[in-house]
Amino acid sequence: MKQIVRDKWSSKAGFVLAAAGSAVGLGNIWKFPYSVGVNGGGAYVALYLLFLVIIGMPLMLAAITLGRKTQLSVFGAYKSIDKRWSFVGALAVICGFVILAFYSAVGGWVLYYFKNAVTGRLNTTDPTVLAGIFTDMMNSPKILIFYQLIFMLMTIMIVIKGIKKGIESSSKIMMPALFILLIIIAIRSVTLKGSMEGIKFLLVPDFSKITMDVAKNAMGQVFFSLSIGMGVMITYGSYLGKEENLLSTAVSIPILDTLAALIAGFATIPAVFALGFEAGEGPGLMFITLPAVFASMPMGQLFCIAFFLLVIFAALTSSMSMLEICVSYFVDERNKDRKKATLTIGALIFLLGIPASLSLVEGSGFRLGSLTFFDAYDKLSANILLTTGAFLLSIFVAWVVTTKEAVKEIESSGVEFKLANVWSFLLKYIVPVGVFIILVNSYKDFIVSILQ
Ligand code: PFF
Repeated sequence: MKQIVRDKWSSKAGFVLAAAGSAVGLGNIWKFPYSVGVNGGGAYVALYLLFLVIIGMPLMLAAITLGRKTQLSVFGAYKSIDKRWSFVGALAVICGFVILAFYSAVGGWVLYYFKNAVTGRLNTTDPTVLAGIFTDMMNSPKILIFYQLIFMLMTIMIVIKGIKKGIESSSKIMMPALFILLIIIAIRSVTLKGSMEGIKFLLVPDFSKITMDVAKNAMGQVFFSLSIGMGVMITYGSYLGKEENLLSTAVSIPILDTLAALIAGFATIPAVFALGFEAGEGPGLMFITLPAVFASMPMGQLFCIAFFLLVIFAALTSSMSMLEICVSYFVDERNKDRKKATLTIGALIFLLGIPASLSLVEGSGFRLGSLTFFDAYDKLSANILLTTGAFLLSIFVAWVVTTKEAVKEIESSGVEFKLANVWSFLLKYIVPVGVFIILVNSYKDFIVSILQ
């Protein structure tokens, strides 16, 4: 194995911010609220929280521990412990390609909305006008592809500069700013007349709405939102020094991430009900609802501009973590030049993303069976690839590394892991079995829908 001198994070806060930067992104602000709407409200939120605690958090700890133990990124980490597991690295790269292909499309929408916020075009509470702006964008291949390209170029530029400079320095200001702004929007949203129905929709679970589909989406969303299952957290964890307390980290990132998603839910859903939008609208929900919330606030345009700017930032700290995983594979494992690899991979992902963007244009015919390319990438990444990665991570840390060794690593910084037995039990049995049940269903459904 190639021995490289590795940077450490300049501080623990640097790691937490970067890891939270990867976790908090479009998944929280755009995807979570609309998934709540599509998947029936409170029951989905309740399942999400359950999966977060019994599956997401144990896996977060497993990932960071594996990274810090091996001091290697995802490919090396698996390989150094057992060569037969090297294929997980390849899976991570494929996953990065697929997620970023459609993630960059949505990143492009946010850029376009930022421009519209600046020009004042979004300054209305009229649902028809706002829905019209979104539909116009969706039906303009030129706009979609142009902005997707710009988003991809921004991601590429950050990754070419290397891991620390880009990630660490900027997260420190932008992440807290995003949280503050989301809280302000949520306060406005829940104080709108008629928002109570929305608050109930979010908080009161109707358990009869829980189906296999809802469970699958909730679990996929946990992995997507926490950036778990394609090695980001293993890789970031590998930069942590031996003295750092992994337990507090593995708890604080999921908490931050979930807070961001819930606050985004409160910013969006109550306003949906108060202002006469449709909760089950789908991917357009944030784009048509939030501008109406801003338009109902004093200095609304300013908030609108700031919001889309901060979402661009949140999306970039996530997208660069995905591209970083793909690039570091070719740099570390295949000895490629970093700059060239970044450019080539970035270009390939952009090309792969074009059908995803175009598949949303009405009548475009870009479909895989019954799914648009966009939906197919989304389902393939969250429900299949990340979920498979998460399953393998649990088996690997629980049974190959063994939880005993992992606990030793966790306690090596001098902390006592009081819940070691609980974690061990979850990681050995509950996580793999739970994820496996969902996974079998996801494969079956995905195959059926692309054959249709
Ligand atoms: N967690 C990111 C979000 O919520 O937007 C998306 C993501 C980033 C998923 C990195 C997976 C990943 F490896």
